[in-house]
Amino acid sequence: MTGELSPIDKAKFVAAKRATQYVETGMRVGLGTGSTAAWLVRCLGEMVRDEGLRIKGVPTSSRTAALARDVGIEVISLDEAKWLDVTIDGADEYDSNLNLIKGGGGALLQEKIVATASDQMVVIADISKQVETLGAFPLPIEVIPFGWQTTKALVEETLISMDVLGRTTTLRMNGEVPFVTDEGNHIIDLHLNRIGHARQLSLVLNQIPGVVENGLFIDICDVVVIGYGDGKVEV
Ligand code: 5RP
Repeated sequence: MTGELSPIDKAKFVAAKRATQYVETGMRVGLGTGSTAAWLVRCLGEMVRDEGLRIKGVPTSSRTAALARDVGIEVISLDEAKWLDVTIDGADEYDSNLNLIKGGGGALLQEKIVATASDQMVVIADISKQVETLGAFPLPIEVIPFGWQTTKALVEETLISMDVLGRTTTLRMNGEVPFVTDEGNHIIDLHLNRIGHARQLSLVLNQIPGVVENGLFIDICDVVVIGYGDGKVEV
């Protein structure tokens, strides 16, 4: 499965492999989205095939659902699972309080719902995702397409009223057309450089009509498994 990996892929792989230790037969497992989470899904698939692991997976995107089925993991919906034992997912940034920015892959809404419905959320990340203060990575917010330009203007006004510095907002594109999430929504990326009050910003953003969810994961993650390019891994 691994062949000759670049340092970054090796870091993602070793973090994913180590995180499989949080998974046992009989568990309902939230499956994250992104390149690191894809390693996790492939590792779990191998364990299903070769080691008799039996789990039910709840994917956080159509991409992850397709990969999970491909590698032989039984896929169920969140409503079928109702509650999950563990969710394992990547992140765009994590800080020392284990707060996160997620949504670089546009799946933040399902990811947040699934992680919140889990006993435990384990984040898998290469060391480049570690930050002192969240915000260098653009913060994604998912907005409904109806009136998105008005929603974007309201978000900008809100950022001004909160004295958030260095703010620009951009509609995420997929080539010439707006990016569309699995829920049929758009993503606005907030380029903030530094988020001083992440909890407050998250609450305020979600009050704006048209905003469905934002990519700040506050008090949701329990553990970060960190991978390094030389194959070292830390929890
Ligand atoms: C998708 C996500 C991903 O977990 C995040 O973007 C990290 O992705 P990658 O593992 O490819 O760096 O939040 O919405």
